[in-house]
Amino acid sequence: MRIGVLTAGGDCPGLNAVIRSVVHRAVAGHGDEVIGFEDGFKGLLDGRHRKLDLDAVAGILARGGTILGSSRLERARLREACETSKDHARDYGIDVLIPIGGEGTLTAARMLSDAGLPIVGVPKTIDNDISATDRTFGFDTAVGVATEAMDRLKTTAESHQRVMVVEVMGRHAGWIALESGMAGGAHGICLPERPFEIDALVKMVEERFSRGKKFAVICVAEGAHPAEGTMDYKKGEIDQYGHERFTGIGNRLAAELERRLGKEARPVILGHVQRGGTPTAYDRVLATRFGWHAVEAAHRGDFGMMTALRGTDIEMVPIAEAVTELKTVPVPRMDEAESVF
Ligand code: F6P
Repeated sequence: MRIGVLTAGGDCPGLNAVIRSVVHRAVAGHGDEVIGFEDGFKGLLDGRHRKLDLDAVAGILARGGTILGSSRLERARLREACETSKDHARDYGIDVLIPIGGEGTLTAARMLSDAGLPIVGVPKTIDNDISATDRTFGFDTAVGVATEAMDRLKTTAESHQRVMVVEVMGRHAGWIALESGMAGGAHGICLPERPFEIDALVKMVEERFSRGKKFAVICVAEGAHPAEGTMDYKKGEIDQYGHERFTGIGNRLAAELERRLGKEARPVILGHVQRGGTPTAYDRVLATRFGWHAVEAAHRGDFGMMTALRGTDIEMVPIAEAVTELKTVPVPRMDEAESVF
């Protein structure tokens, strides 16, 4: 069998572990050939690819990013890819394509699959917002980075009697904010799923200081926003990939808290630090298992399906199931974290 593999969308710790696992299982396990397309679907359209053998993936398990490169595809180019998808399989002689990507990539993968290209998907995102899988690799690493940041910020916040507003990634789903906020002991957590009340945040900080506490940490997801009419906050425009451009809730919230509390507040925007660097052991294992199962699925002819973690098992689920709606934080999970506002 000849397998094509690509990584698309925002990168994520663990992508290289999937690529390595696909190559190991396919080449060493089945005697397959693997080619990697460069820079996501763009490499497929432009014919940029290279052979991936065991040597090509040596030493990449612990490496962040993706050795294949990644990109987002504009809608017009995606249509072009669908129209010519069967030609790609023929031109490159591939029996199956394994795209590794998030919601956008899986939507593209589904379209290509519907257009006749044999596909086995692998979900990835630090945001953990893909339905149909309990977890995505990259999430554990991102939560670890954000938690460590909060641990560090607490000591400097306390020294200066400050409020720290830590902005983490999460456009529509607040999983990183929820879990890093809980693990880092944030006193306030703001999620995209529930508009926050600025008055309640102010009250919480005032109460802390009145009890003799000398600092507060608030963890805010980049997609969080205040309840209507409670605080000025301008939403951004939509970019060419259909994503809202954020105007900086971390900065805005820190400024508002400083004004209302009369205490120093500092914003800390963690940004892409959460996506870079080496994956945790958990993410390496999950990514490796996804790669192994994707190759097995390809050999069974399970096309139009993707790997998913269900409990502790890896199962194959229709890609369609993963892209119909985002997995957001449900209310009972918010209730467990006392500090969600
Ligand atoms: O991977 C998803 C994500 O991390 C979002 O949480 C974030 O808003 C986005 O990527 C930013 O990606 P980029 O800056 O690469 O467009």
